Amino acid sequence: MPWTVPPIAAERLPALLAAMPKAELHLHIEGTLEPEMIFALAARNGITLPYPDIAALRRAYAFGKLQDFLDLYYQGAGVLRTEQDFHDLAHAYLRRAAAENVVRAEIFFDPQTHTARGVSMETVIRGLRRACADAERELGISSALILCFLRHLSEREAFETLEAALPWRDQFIGVGLDSSELGHPPEKFARVFARCRQLGLHVVAHAGEEGPPDYIRGALDVLQVERIDHGVQAVHDAALLQRLARERIPLTVCPLSNQKLQVFPDLAQHSLPRLLEAGVVATVNSDDPAYFGGYVNANFQQVFAATGLGAAQAWQLAANSFEASFAPPADRQRWLDQARACFEQYAA
Ligand code: ADE
Ligand code: ZN
Repeated sequence: MPWTVPPIAAERLPALLAAMPKAELHLHIEGTLEPEMIFALAARNGITLPYPDIAALRRAYAFGKLQDFLDLYYQGAGVLRTEQDFHDLAHAYLRRAAAENVVRAEIFFDPQTHTARGVSMETVIRGLRRACADAERELGISSALILCFLRHLSEREAFETLEAALPWRDQFIGVGLDSSELGHPPEKFARVFARCRQLGLHVVAHAGEEGPPDYIRGALDVLQVERIDHGVQAVHDAALLQRLARERIPLTVCPLSNQKLQVFPDLAQHSLPRLLEAGVVATVNSDDPAYFGGYVNANFQQVFAATGLGAAQAWQLAANSFEASFAPPADRQRWLDQARACFEQYAA
């Protein structure tokens, strides 16, 4: 018999959103660097920061657009030097994610931010992978790494980065494309992504965050991505919206990021309800939670409160996150069953 979402009292919805098992599919590990950890790592590594204290750094977190954020995000990442630094960063995130009932995390990392400062690819990948293994053993959380190319840099630099990462090919499951979107359309990386697909890597790309729907089309047609990161501008193009729904291309949506970067300054205007209404496989994620004021459960709770979504959409988003995940099918089915049990418990 097909399962239907049981009725759930409105006042129990925030707790259900927190308790339900979920996959987080759009999370930049460098974006989980909390101000406290920036200061701790700076002290550990003998680095002087351009801010007198944590409060002053936090005060700088006011962004008018994506680039304002990226400038601070790359500066913050400068405190990451050793394998242990990368381990501690990822371990802290995974502990927090597990506490928020994330059962699967597919984690972006930006190696070019680090290799440009003389930190080796090996240092980055070994530190992150050790944290993933520790967290799986200690907390049961499943995780995997996705290497992102910085789109403001050249195609040649992306190829060099891929080459440098290939000795660790089995340590990451896919590649992505992030950083400054406007002026850097997906087509710039057509050949890099073709090579990555040949290598059997999963492929995703940020598109339609600040950029137009045409960048989403380019990511699909030219890069042949399996998921679109953000994609929230698709609502301005009815044919594209229909295509995303028909082809079941997941969008990894990040409500608090969109609010803080002025994509939707008023969360009540966010396009998530329209995406779900159109049948798009949308998911909710935290992007850079240390900078945007909330981890995944805060993203769920705040966008639900602002837009009036309910239990049926909560179920859809949890189910979508497992459908969109690159985890093995048996794991995805098990998490879906756990989510169903969670909803039934909240209905009781
Ligand atoms: N890198 C980290 N967060 C990002 C975002 N929201 N968009 C593009 N690049 C990013
Ligand atoms: Zn992102």
